[in-house]
Amino acid sequence: MKTINIAIDGPAGAGKSTIAKMVSAELGYIYVDTGAMYRAVALYLTENNIPDEDIEKAVEKVEVSLKFVDGAQRVYLGDRDVSELIRTPEISMAASRTSAVPAVRARLFDLQQKLARENNIIMDGRDIGTVVLPNADVKIFLTASAEERANRRYKELSEKPDCPSYDEILKDIIQRDYNDMHRETAPLKQADDAVLVDTTELTLEQSAARISEIIKERV
Ligand code: DC
Repeated sequence: MKTINIAIDGPAGAGKSTIAKMVSAELGYIYVDTGAMYRAVALYLTENNIPDEDIEKAVEKVEVSLKFVDGAQRVYLGDRDVSELIRTPEISMAASRTSAVPAVRARLFDLQQKLARENNIIMDGRDIGTVVLPNADVKIFLTASAEERANRRYKELSEKPDCPSYDEILKDIIQRDYNDMHRETAPLKQADDAVLVDTTELTLEQSAARISEIIKERV
């Protein structure tokens, strides 16, 4: 049976994961966060102090898998649940850097395609509509201004100890956008047939409603 595949791409902090979770819960699809897979690989490389020149070899040994508990994705390195450990600013930056390595992308590509073949999914990332699922039923490119994305991240982190300043967050976002858009393999870009949704002026609820409407029109 053909499964339904929805691709959502866009830069860091555009709200992809929160919105994709809301919409997949509404439509009964599985939500797959591919960024978490890149983060898990980055955690492995960081924990094992793998130098850049050895990444290609080391990545053959990495076992990343996803489990879905009550609809929520958990990410595993071997049998260790690393879902929380991968959410630090250090791992964000490491993932942005190591995801440029073709061997890292190749390692995760098969796993992503298999999930899409077997399930009705909303998959988010940077290259889902362009590379991983070029035949997705619906493609959305979700974005917002860098300042608005930094603002949202700052609000999210401001309750926590050691919260970085707004300027640091904005600098990180701009750096990650640059890395993600300028790498040679599978750079972040809007697929020709993707619908652009700019959430700078939208609330989360408005963004989710817009995306759900786009999907319902097409599927
Ligand atoms: O979506 P995120 O911030 O969790 O992603 C972490 C990093 O992983 C991001 O900087 C770029 C990379 N990534 C990628 O290259 N391709 C994807 N499909 C998803 C994420």
